[in-house]
Amino acid sequence: METLILYSSRDGQTKKIADFIARELSGNVTVQSLHEVAESSLVRADRIIIGASIRYGHFERALDDFVKKQTALLNKKPSAFFGVNLTARKVGKDTPETNVYVRKFLRRIQWKPELAAVFAGALRYPRYRFLDRIMIQLIMKITGGETDPTKEIEYTDWQKVKAFAEKLT
Ligand SMILES: Cc1cc2nc3c(=O)[nH]c(=O)nc-3n(C[C@H](O)[C@H](O)[C@H](O)COP(=O)(O)O)c2cc1C
Repeated sequence: METLILYSSRDGQTKKIADFIARELSGNVTVQSLHEVAESSLVRADRIIIGASIRYGHFERALDDFVKKQTALLNKKPSAFFGVNLTARKVGKDTPETNVYVRKFLRRIQWKPELAAVFAGALRYPRYRFLDRIMIQLIMKITGGETDPTKEIEYTDWQKVKAFAEKLT
């Protein structure tokens, strides 16, 4: 069984989750950037898992383009999707049905992954550029989250990621 895990990640958390899932799965598993994957790798894979993160309300544009282009291929194989964002740190916004980004994404695409999940990402103020830091602080203030710019917090629930991976085995 050849599993291909593709990630669309800006700051690395989605890749970290993809690597974690890869370690949980048996068989031949490849983790690769969605933005660099070759057509031949897609064709060769027995199943495909895609993970992507949110920035300012959106997945990367390339994710939609990729899914649109590869819908037929994706629907032909066992497949799964996971979204990563900070909204999912809150109970009630942490499932594909209740997380606004994932719900809308799954509704607007023709790809029908067999399994979908949402994981909380990471907040890493010291690594953000000035404007991003200010914007995230503002969003966190509004949503009752951490605003201390010296903090790095990983909200990802690794047990939840493990449970997702187990469903894939
Ligand atoms: C500039 C910026 C904008 C973000 N915008 C959102 C957002 O609109 N909604 C949200 O829930 N999370 C938002 N996040 C949180 C990210 O989704 C979270 O940090 C995630 O772990 C990033 O994953 P990545 O490292 O794979 O890119 C934002 C993060 C950054 C740095």
